[in-house]
Amino acid sequence: MAYQITIQPKGLIFTAQENESVLDAATRAGIKIRKSCTNGNCEICRAHLTAGVVDTPFGRHTADHPDANPLLCCVSQPRSDLILELEKVLGPGEIALQHIAFQVQNVEPLKGGVYHIQLLAPAGKDVNYHAGQYLELLIEDGEYPFTIASAPNGREIELHLGVSSDNQSSQSILTYLQNNSTVRARLPKGDVWLKNQIELCNLHDPLIFIVAGTGFAQAKAMIEEQLKHQHSAIHLYWINRDASGFYSDQAKQWADDGLIHYHAMTPETPECEFFTELTVEELIHLKLGNLSDIKVVCCGGPNFVYSVLSGLESKGFHQSQMLSDVFAYAPRPE
Ligand code: FES
Repeated sequence: MAYQITIQPKGLIFTAQENESVLDAATRAGIKIRKSCTNGNCEICRAHLTAGVVDTPFGRHTADHPDANPLLCCVSQPRSDLILELEKVLGPGEIALQHIAFQVQNVEPLKGGVYHIQLLAPAGKDVNYHAGQYLELLIEDGEYPFTIASAPNGREIELHLGVSSDNQSSQSILTYLQNNSTVRARLPKGDVWLKNQIELCNLHDPLIFIVAGTGFAQAKAMIEEQLKHQHSAIHLYWINRDASGFYSDQAKQWADDGLIHYHAMTPETPECEFFTELTVEELIHLKLGNLSDIKVVCCGGPNFVYSVLSGLESKGFHQSQMLSDVFAYAPRPE
């Protein structure tokens, strides 16, 4: 007999076998519940039983029994499907939040008002995150999200900061980084990363990045990671208003080395070397034909992402094939 266990509020679902503790079943599913003694003494693994029946060292309890809570995951075995409330739990692959005081190593202007920021974590402290995730710089009383522009690589991380005269906070952040030797950050955040073995193993299936402006930062980190796995079918479509928006030469370098397929696109600037009159959706359809086995990572603002999604959907693509940070904070317009 197997029972389904749901952990709220994260909505994590896994299965426990007969006579398996909640903690053991969660661990087997790649879910991390805090633990120490594993014999019912320290209570660090306590959860709240909302629904279901469990066997505990003190007897069999239903959720409404006065002794049912707190439920200790390490010594409780389900006797029905369960719903638990548990805040401090990490889903498969999820990395615990870290606070790090980084050393500001380098602040260097690139093109188009974009700055390359290099940060270094303290000695002995590796920075844990998945390529595609972001951090929050904690500057004075503000929290400023930035995609990490480099794949995990020990203590170093790279950010791309776009600075413009109509964006006061971008100017303040630049000034801070130019005048301070350290900056605090909280990471990792975001759920755009290639999560499971299926996604990482299909290294011949097309993986398409469609990015606008400094959305390139997210694509750069993820492409670096995929190239480590020798992903052979990476396509990058980088869209800017004009040629000055292509602030990094990295994409062109990868293309010149034969590692990725790269299209730099501007909508209205014929003088751009890579000008094309096709939309990105038309170009992808023309090149790949069947869109049913592609995965798309789309990096940009909500209007950009939803307009690309609509264009691809008109050619047989489904939203479940797309990853974008936008889905977490901006609902799709009706
Ligand atoms: S881990 Fe100590 S009580 Fe469960």
